[in-house]
Amino acid sequence: MPWRIIMMAITAAVTCTSATFALAADGMRSLAHTAGIRFGTAVNVEALGTDAAYSKLLAREFDLVTPENAMKFSVIQPERGRFDFTQADALVAFAEARAMQVNGHVLVWDQQLPDWLTQGHFNSDELKAILREHIQTVVARYRGRVASWDVAAEAVGEDGKPRETFWSRGIGPDYLALAFRWAHAADPQARLRYNDYGGEGAGAKSDGIYTLVADLRTHRVPIDSVGLQMHVSLNDAPRPEDVRINMKRLAALGLQTDITEMDVMLSLPTSRAALRKQAVLYGAMLQACLTVPQCRSFSTWGATDRYSWVPEFFPGQGAALLFDASGHAKPAYWRIKRALRTEVSHKR
Ligand code: XIL
Repeated sequence: MPWRIIMMAITAAVTCTSATFALAADGMRSLAHTAGIRFGTAVNVEALGTDAAYSKLLAREFDLVTPENAMKFSVIQPERGRFDFTQADALVAFAEARAMQVNGHVLVWDQQLPDWLTQGHFNSDELKAILREHIQTVVARYRGRVASWDVAAEAVGEDGKPRETFWSRGIGPDYLALAFRWAHAADPQARLRYNDYGGEGAGAKSDGIYTLVADLRTHRVPIDSVGLQMHVSLNDAPRPEDVRINMKRLAALGLQTDITEMDVMLSLPTSRAALRKQAVLYGAMLQACLTVPQCRSFSTWGATDRYSWVPEFFPGQGAALLFDASGHAKPAYWRIKRALRTEVSHKR
């Protein structure tokens, strides 16, 4: 082999190795840490056992993990009084071994509930006892190990009024305050959150969420944060400026905020132009979070397009995350890193 070709091969190998290393040393999690926030993702716990590249990517890029399904009611308590922590334990152990924080998800929601519960015809006192036992058991098990909990989710309707849910019908409007109090009693150190979609920016739903959490604060309910889910698309996303303003008004109530589940679904097949617009939107939402000191974390609903919920739930849509199905960084990833680097350089 001629020298020149050998030299080119060596240079390419060295460049590639150092680029990979640079990515590792300089992944989103370390930059985000220096910028003052945590960078998170929802995790598919089953894939942790089968996909080593996925686990590696998670550890390199994220320092906050939310179980995508493993802590939902139907998984944790599939039969009345029988708790199954297999998947949840695996996720917590995975996170602890990699110095990641865990966000528990979700205690009071009206989806992914087991049939024994929804078809059990329980009266209000029985339901209260069931919910209380569920919250106490789950939160106490992970006391000191799960840093924050999505205590309640999706309790407000599009019109801003409280939504009628399985829990509100069964227990009455008190169910939210009770849930936060039970969670706080089980782990007084955990950060407790109300989490919702479609109310991230301006509008009736955002106002309704604001009113709800203001009321909880007035009644001294132990709530620390509002989670803005941020499931969006290119033509249906809040204005980043409105998100910043919303975070500010929540901060004025004494509440932190977190972007908890961001993804930006694209029509398939994607184009370079769409991927660029997606990158801009991710960057702008991160920017909104970085400008509000009370915004504590930024999470995407999945790490790679391989495990995203979008194609299944929104046929024809996908490519919503920062890494493609093979784990390669997309334009949105580089945009996020740029925003983090800019923030870090301003801090220094
Ligand atoms: C989704 C999961 O991603 C899916 O795997 C599951 O089948 C349904 O739930 N808002 C939430 C999440 O708070 O819990 C949802 O997760 C997505 C919308």
